[in-house]
Amino acid sequence: MLEGREIIVGVSGGIAAYKAAALTSLLVQQGAGVTAVLTQNACQFVGVATFAALTGRPVVTQSFDSQSYPLGAHIELAARAHLVIVAPATADLIAKAAFGAADDCLTTLLLCATCPVLMAPAMNSAMWAKPSVQRNLKQLAEDGVGIIQPGTGWLSCRQEGAGRMAEPNAIAAVIADALSDRHRG
Ligand SMILES: Cc1cc2nc3c(=O)[nH]c(=O)nc-3n(C[C@H](O)[C@H](O)[C@H](O)COP(=O)(O)O)c2cc1C
Repeated sequence: MLEGREIIVGVSGGIAAYKAAALTSLLVQQGAGVTAVLTQNACQFVGVATFAALTGRPVVTQSFDSQSYPLGAHIELAARAHLVIVAPATADLIAKAAFGAADDCLTTLLLCATCPVLMAPAMNSAMWAKPSVQRNLKQLAEDGVGIIQPGTGWLSCRQEGAGRMAEPNAIAAVIADALSDRHRG
């Protein structure tokens, strides 16, 4: 279904990062070539070895790696990507992307991307309710980023509420739709 498609899975530092591994596996099983780009904080939650094994590729965790990416990973990966999905997208990543900041590989790659970009926010319900977060998401949507809305349910902070990241299979379905023939120019 996704044969010949190059997908960047960007992972930022939220507890839902563990679900990004399941999403990555689903995309690989559907035939996509997947490269994982983790923020430094994402590495607190999930292991590089997990994503390397799932994708069969090196995992990008930093901007500067002249051996693997002499032009810069942000440039080389953005140039060949058909789609970028950030899952989970933290409040921090969302704010930086809305502002156009580029202080790590993932945010810099987002600025270089000319393909469709999707984000699956995930955070505590108090964070999710903050006007600043909603303002930043509105800005991203206006800028053409597809926001995959979180659901309401069990949160790792031991509350029920809004901010629970969409499930990996639901995110994979949105990706498949975004890459389907009917969206090709
Ligand atoms: C245990 C724990 C869980 C966290 N979960 C989330 C989360 O689900 N969503 C979020 O936006 N931030 C969460 N944070 C805060 C982020 O890790 C923090 O804002 C960090 O700066 C994000 O960095 P990044 O966006 O560069 O990956 C959590 C922090 C801790 C310590």
